[in-house]
Amino acid sequence: MKLRDASFRNAALAVCGFVLALAGLGAQQRDPAEYARFLENRDRVERMEVRRVVEALGLTPGQLVVDLGSGSGLFTRALARAVAPTGTAYAVDIDPALLTIVETSAKRSSIKNLTTVLAAPDDPKLPQTVDLIFICDTFHHLPDKPAYARTLYRYVKPGGRVAVIDFTNDWPGGHDAMRYTADDLEGWMTAAGFLRDQSFDFPKNSFYITYKKPQ
Ligand SMILES: C[S@@+](CC[C@H](N)C(=O)[O-])C[C@H]1O[C@@H](n2cnc3c(N)ncnc32)[C@H](O)[C@@H]1O
Repeated sequence: MKLRDASFRNAALAVCGFVLALAGLGAQQRDPAEYARFLENRDRVERMEVRRVVEALGLTPGQLVVDLGSGSGLFTRALARAVAPTGTAYAVDIDPALLTIVETSAKRSSIKNLTTVLAAPDDPKLPQTVDLIFICDTFHHLPDKPAYARTLYRYVKPGGRVAVIDFTNDWPGGHDAMRYTADDLEGWMTAAGFLRDQSFDFPKNSFYITYKKPQ
């Protein structure tokens, strides 16, 4: 069915954005359980190619990884499995109710190496520097993106990486003020000191780019 492509992701996000805009609701006021169900609906999960996205990162057991803007923890759980048993995956979000949902889902999935961290809007508040900061469908929410790129640089170990997935040309409704391009990202990240590492041509309607902090 044609709905299982970029149009579904956008239609669903547009509905979400529209409803939130109509109600004048911010992240803290939306219904977290409903939002988590939206983030993990079958069509989105298939479309986002979670397993392929995480495999592309070539993670190894023992690494410290961060899922910034973890939402329901869809990617955090996959990241945690990739660095288990000795590594740690941090689910980082500004919404404490979503972090509670992440904890519950990790427990249900018998994942023991996942820790939640409540972020400030302009700072992920990580307890230590890490090997990877993964950011899916979230960078567009960050305030003052050039400054945030510099903050990311402080939290990544030398040789560590930042991976960003975000929309390409087909942005969902309600996101006009947050739009940016892969070229914008390149400018912010290289100005902060990162080097371009890899880029992938999936998931659909997304760019997927990794940056490296020099050794
Ligand atoms: C569209 S969801 C993406 C969730 C998840 N990355 C995924 O792809 O399934 C965006 C998430 O970013 C979070 N978020 C928004 N602004 C943030 C900020 N400044 N710092 C950390 N998280 C933020 C929201 O609370 C929400 O959970």
